[in-house]
Amino acid sequence: MKQKEIYRCSICGKVIEILNPGVPETICCGQPMKLMEEQSAEWAQEKHVPKITIEGNKVTVDVGISMGTPHPMTDEHYIMWIEIICKDGCYERRFLKPGAETKATFTVANPEGLWAREFCNLHFLWVSEK
Ligand SMILES: [Fe+2]
Repeated sequence: MKQKEIYRCSICGKVIEILNPGVPETICCGQPMKLMEEQSAEWAQEKHVPKITIEGNKVTVDVGISMGTPHPMTDEHYIMWIEIICKDGCYERRFLKPGAETKATFTVANPEGLWAREFCNLHFLWVSEK
């Protein structure tokens, strides 16, 4: 178990993040929660890999927009959040709702070496190039 790992219960759909790792498995609905792998190779019909654009210290992360095919944002299938992780320890997350644009903008002190993750309610966790 590591910091920032995301776990999901495949029965009730609860999603949790590890802030401080512990030894025992995390149980939900009577069974261990499943570790969400950071996916980086597109396999679904929709685009999921977050794309980072940096202008000064403004960081924009989009999902599919810059590829010309934004990820759906319907009640049934949408990007739940977009987040960035910086080398200097910053960790920022923007939650999205169905109907919203599949992008988020952040201001960071130092954009060098940052990466992004996003979570789709159907296709789970995706990561940008690090
Ligand atoms: Fe998806």
